[in-house]
Amino acid sequence: MAIQPVLRLGDPRLLKVASEVSDFNNPELDLLIEDMFDTMAAEDGAGLAAPQIGIGLRVVIFGFDDNPRYPDSNAIPKTILINPQITALNEDKEDGWEGCLSVPGMRGMVSRYTSIRYTGFDANGSPIDVIADDFHARVVQHECDHLDGIIYTQRLTDPMKFGFTEELSNSGQLSSASCTE
Ligand code: NI
Repeated sequence: MAIQPVLRLGDPRLLKVASEVSDFNNPELDLLIEDMFDTMAAEDGAGLAAPQIGIGLRVVIFGFDDNPRYPDSNAIPKTILINPQITALNEDKEDGWEGCLSVPGMRGMVSRYTSIRYTGFDANGSPIDVIADDFHARVVQHECDHLDGIIYTQRLTDPMKFGFTEELSNSGQLSSASCTE
């Protein structure tokens, strides 16, 4: 078990485009995934991307059974997604509050596609092909953005709808539990 420090907004490594995984037999890939799950669990996250722990590879993980931080959200199966591709199934988007382990204690309003198909590979290199909606779709879009060096703060629908979780919550603005990470 190895919990890694999560890079925070301002670290230039978070803004880099990550590289594709080409060797699925490399034992370092399994160690990376283990570290990512340990780190995500320690932080109570709903997802994590490899660049957030300083590894510039196109690997994301997400999923939770029952997360106290997201009481209104259905469980998402624990998933390892490598070299992901996302396609929006239609043009429908929805605004929702997001957070990020790299921007601790804050939330911002972001618009995301509500229905997507994502493809990629699992840790063994077997193909993944999933249709996802709503919160599940939001988490995947948020995580995959990290692989292109994009943090949700670059996608705010309105700079006025961004602030500390505590203040947004105390003032009644943070009504829904539609947050990632
Ligand atoms: Ni994030």
